[in-house]
Amino acid sequence: MSKRKILVTSALPYANGSIHLGHLVEYIQTDIWVRFQKMQGHEVHYVCADDTHGTPIMLRAEKEGITPEALIARVQKEHERDFAGFHVEFDHYYTTHSPETRQHAEGIYTKLKTARLITSRAVEQFYDPVKQMFLPDRFIKGECPKCGARDQYGDNCEACGAAYAPTDLKNPYSAVSGAIPVKKASEHFFFKLSDSRCVDFLREWTTSGTLQPEAANKMREWLGEAGENKLSDWDISRDAPYFGFEIPDAPGKYFYVWLDAPVGYMGSFRKLCDDKGIDFDEFWQKDSTAELYHFIGKDILYFHALFWPAMLRNAGYRTPTNIYAHGFLTVNGEKMSKSRGTFITAESYLQQGLNPEWLRYYYAAKLNSTMEDIDLNLEDFAARVNSDLVGKFVNIAARCAGFIEKRFDSKLAAINLNDEPIQKAFQYTFENVQNQGRNSEWIGEEYNSREYGKAVRWIMAVTNIANQYVDQEKPWELAKDPSQLERLHYVCSVGINLFRYLAILLVPILPATADRARHFLNELDPYTWKNAETLLPEGHKINSYDHLMTRVDPKQITALVEASTESLKPTTPQPHSQQRHAQHQENVVETTTQPATISIDDFSKIDLRVARIVNAEQVEGADKLLKLTLDIGTEQRTVFAGIKSAYDPEKLKGRLTVMVANLAPRKMKFGLSEGMVLAAGDGGGLYLLGPDEGAQPGMRIK
Ligand code: MSP
Ligand code: ZN
Repeated sequence: MSKRKILVTSALPYANGSIHLGHLVEYIQTDIWVRFQKMQGHEVHYVCADDTHGTPIMLRAEKEGITPEALIARVQKEHERDFAGFHVEFDHYYTTHSPETRQHAEGIYTKLKTARLITSRAVEQFYDPVKQMFLPDRFIKGECPKCGARDQYGDNCEACGAAYAPTDLKNPYSAVSGAIPVKKASEHFFFKLSDSRCVDFLREWTTSGTLQPEAANKMREWLGEAGENKLSDWDISRDAPYFGFEIPDAPGKYFYVWLDAPVGYMGSFRKLCDDKGIDFDEFWQKDSTAELYHFIGKDILYFHALFWPAMLRNAGYRTPTNIYAHGFLTVNGEKMSKSRGTFITAESYLQQGLNPEWLRYYYAAKLNSTMEDIDLNLEDFAARVNSDLVGKFVNIAARCAGFIEKRFDSKLAAINLNDEPIQKAFQYTFENVQNQGRNSEWIGEEYNSREYGKAVRWIMAVTNIANQYVDQEKPWELAKDPSQLERLHYVCSVGINLFRYLAILLVPILPATADRARHFLNELDPYTWKNAETLLPEGHKINSYDHLMTRVDPKQITALVEASTESLKPTTPQPHSQQRHAQHQENVVETTTQPATISIDDFSKIDLRVARIVNAEQVEGADKLLKLTLDIGTEQRTVFAGIKSAYDPEKLKGRLTVMVANLAPRKMKFGLSEGMVLAAGDGGGLYLLGPDEGAQPGMRIK
């Protein structure tokens, strides 16, 4: 087999959010594939980066009182930590806010412009007159034009599901400042996707085997039939203020984040090439024979299967070999939800002490090459990991290692592939040698075609054979009979070799466990796929067996869900009391059913005070909370406030705010909360209230 040159990417995660279990479907899927290809001996480069530009990141930084550069640097560190925690091993992880990405984005843009594929025209958009910025759809809220629900986003209604344009909203307001937006025109740049050079190329490209069949069908829908032209030109510019790259020769105009995001793949790889002396052009030039694969979620297919190849093609670069799109993660059959505790971050999973390889295995068992959604059923997760990995896989080693160590000086017996017991144990393999080539290649083909679920099924079939062999041979009984010593040695050596075979097949999925297995087997070099076809030689000495993997304790799952359950404003009733309890642990703003009006007496029951934040700090293990120390003149109070997403604690120190001083103290997971601070907004933006200048801590608010 010749050595292939392969460049692999996963989508670039946004720099304004944490990595969660949904993201991990993709990074684990890609990592398994990359590890498999590397085991084949191919030259594989796996690159990724944070996607750092755009309005949400700019506003988020502003809210935290830091520069966008500081925000993206911090988040990149968190992302890299999370990926490493799940053994996702990039060859290079970068940022789109890099000189390399800027250079390539400008280069591509300039080539498209020279090719007369860039036009400009005035576009009328909502503008926030207070904040003095154009508002992306998701920063405009208002009443649903269909059902009248309030506080709905500019594109669709969460209450009735209607889709509409932001201009259709009734009583629209800016989610940034609350101001009433006005319509304002401004010059925008467009990539002429409707040009026949794009349409004709895309019609060809999308149906030439570069996409999965379902994806190709979607593209056909979007492209329309030949002769029909359904593609509109793509708006690639945004007005200042914007965090991104300014467009050459267009002061105040910036590349829309989705223009430079995929260029970030190039930018990251370029940096790797510069660092390692790899030939960049060999991978990206027009007639490149290297392979280029983008792993993405189905939600961003449009960008990767239309805009990106059209850009590459018309700027004189090669286009992707394949786009591999996967489905979305559901947890317990539903969309991940913060109130149900199923919106689980990578960090929280690891902090609760769950083994990252459990998740890698579970996802592998569920993944295939289609765009179907995959479900993480938490009960099934525990059961499956316990039965397959602990009960079947590591059990083989556990059952045989002790005898080898104690009775045979840790040395293995010679195994003859043609001996009857081996024939029997390896039957599976032999059958496949005759029918389909070696079993390892067969399983390899499942990995190669991203049919990981099938690969796992075959691997489990082999574990069953190994365990049945040990069950039948009963080494624990052979060990009682001195005349069976040789047989005991033989049986256990077969067991150990089968275990090794399985460990090699599982390397892409369980890299850390396979590594520990390799140390136990006393082998120095990392496993390659070829190793699966060999046996350990007679007299090979193994190391003492240390338990390789613990069982999932259902209590860990309960704790994980509890730790992930947060809600600032529960909107739907929670079915289970246990979930409800968990939900309130970090709940700051309690919702109560309010009568339509209250009397002034009702209102005056609330003791509102001006408070000075004398200290603010992070709360270990809390995703949303900051611990505030508030001075209300007569005393200091501790309050846990759900404002972590919006405020840097350092910036809060010293400022004045408003607190409810007579709220019954509540015992929370992290300590006693003695009141509440007032803030406007919700998850999409939080704004702490503050009195005008001159107010003093302790003043009553009436
Ligand atoms: N920044 C863009 C990608 C730019 S690529 C040039 C983006 N970022 S993202 O953080 O929202 O998502 C990153 C990847 O994770 C995407 O491929 C997305 O499909 C995937 N997933 C995010 N949530 C997911 C699930 N719940 N389930 C499965 N994959 C999900 O999109
Ligand atoms: Zn509605």
